[in-house]
Amino acid sequence: MFRFFILFLIFSTCSVHINGDTPANCTYDDIRGSWTFFETQRSFDRNVKCDNQAPGANEVRLELLFPDIAVDEFGNKGKWTIIYNQGFEVQINYRKYFAFSAYKQNGSTVISYCHRTLPGYAHDILGNNWSCFTGRKQNQLQPKISHSPPMLESSEELFRNDQDFIKQINNVQKSWKAAVYPHFENLSHRELHLMRGGPRSRIMDPPKPRKASSIVKRDVKTVPLEFDWRNVNGVNYVSPVRNQGACGSCYAFSSVGMIESRLKVQTNNTVNLQLSTQDIVSCSRYSQGCEGGFPYLVAGKYGQDYGFIQEKCDPYVGSDVPCHEKKCLRHYTARYGYVGGFYGACNEELMMIELVRNGPMSVSFEVYSDFQYYKSGIYHHTGLESSFNPFEITNHAVLLVGYGQDASTGEKFWIVKNSWGENWGENGFFRIRKGTDECSIESIAVEATPIP
Ligand SMILES: *[C@@H]1O[C@H](CO)[C@@H](O)[C@H](O)[C@H]1NC(C)=O
Ligand SMILES: *[C@@H]1O[C@H](CO)[C@@H](O)[C@H](O)[C@H]1NC(C)=O
Ligand SMILES: *[C@@H]1O[C@H](CO)[C@@H](O)[C@H](O)[C@H]1NC(C)=O
Ligand SMILES: *[C@@H]1O[C@H](CO)[C@@H](O)[C@H](O)[C@H]1NC(C)=O
Ligand SMILES: *[C@@H]1O[C@H](CO)[C@@H](O)[C@H](O)[C@H]1NC(C)=O
Repeated sequence: MFRFFILFLIFSTCSVHINGDTPANCTYDDIRGSWTFFETQRSFDRNVKCDNQAPGANEVRLELLFPDIAVDEFGNKGKWTIIYNQGFEVQINYRKYFAFSAYKQNGSTVISYCHRTLPGYAHDILGNNWSCFTGRKQNQLQPKISHSPPMLESSEELFRNDQDFIKQINNVQKSWKAAVYPHFENLSHRELHLMRGGPRSRIMDPPKPRKASSIVKRDVKTVPLEFDWRNVNGVNYVSPVRNQGACGSCYAFSSVGMIESRLKVQTNNTVNLQLSTQDIVSCSRYSQGCEGGFPYLVAGKYGQDYGFIQEKCDPYVGSDVPCHEKKCLRHYTARYGYVGGFYGACNEELMMIELVRNGPMSVSFEVYSDFQYYKSGIYHHTGLESSFNPFEITNHAVLLVGYGQDASTGEKFWIVKNSWGENWGENGFFRIRKGTDECSIESIAVEATPIP
């Protein structure tokens, strides 16, 4: 386990990572409507810094329509999605535009200006002709005040296993077992908070799964009743379980876990790479290092725009060390998106189909205090809370690798790879109730296809 005093580093790098994940709270209804993008000259390379660029070379006028249709002033059609409640991405006329929504933060108070964006990035779908832009919505919206989730940062106090709580969990239900984890006692509450997702991965209002269409209901009948990428005709396509340590980098582990496994799936298990999560933590402008991030922007966008390098080229240290130039081969993402096509379109059936057809995928779920004690079985949140240790709900990104059904109880479950080492759960994996959007696990799955 890692015991780093990264608090200082986190705050000192915040001002550098201006375009990391943000505390803005802009919903679908805030974003949909008429926009103008004020774009700079299209001649910059992918390392362009957009913070101080003067836009004005080009104006792109767009309508962002329900549910994911973008239309420009000439009637050309494209697609768009919000990205959590942080910003949005539009693809139209063979160009991609991505920006975070504008906000101001003073302490824990956040004011979101959802009708404006921060300086964002645009490029064509081949990764050429980068430019910077800022977006402005036609209708001004009221600035929205919210409170960014607090971090248990002051809490250098060490975690203690709560024996009574464990007993309670095991008494109220039989579907999963809680157990003591002695090695957690060597971590502080702040470190465990990072391990569970960190403050910048928090999704305050996750969408509800969308009802499956009749086509999807028909398609799902073509996939097996049980499926596990760890054993498909005796072959394991899932790369080994790793340990993120006390850094909010679950999104990076989930992302590379998907890419590594899908490369195996695409190549009959002959390409076996371990990809660098440290490169993402240190270098991705689309996430915020050890404070958190989101798989859409990492497995998807970072993988497409910058690519992944191998672990040996930038080994994991689990802290916010600065990014440095590396001469390493890069592995790119070809396509990516929310399962269902846009944020809010996901459901159980689509996840099953995507999993079986294309490979493991990134999912996020809400972590409650009972989850950390999970040892075996099919997890569901018991509703019990430990009052013993301070706790904030987080969103933790993990990797979906399979699904099944308990032979005796009939309870359906997902099989999920965690990044808390092999000594946690069922050899580093857990199972969680399926079909009921348990802890929002069926609401925000992300798929990304690497180029083998
Ligand atoms: C930030 O908030 C504090 C009080 O919480 C206030 O005194 C200060 O003026 C605020 N700063 C800005 C820039 O609004
Ligand atoms: C695309 O970028 C190249 C330089 O990378 C530049 O020469 C060219 O003019 C750009 N094309 C457009 C349409 O902006
Ligand atoms: C975000 O905005 C929505 C709608 O405007 C609101 O319902 C929700 O409570 C806000 N979330 C937070 C964390 O402020
Ligand atoms: C916890 O820390 C103590 C002292 O630093 C050490 O002796 C012990 O082995 C550690 N336990 C685990 C499980 O890492
Ligand atoms: C995939 O790999 C297995 C095991 O090495 C081999 O038996 C099989 O022929 C391969 N399949 C193809 C299509 O090459």
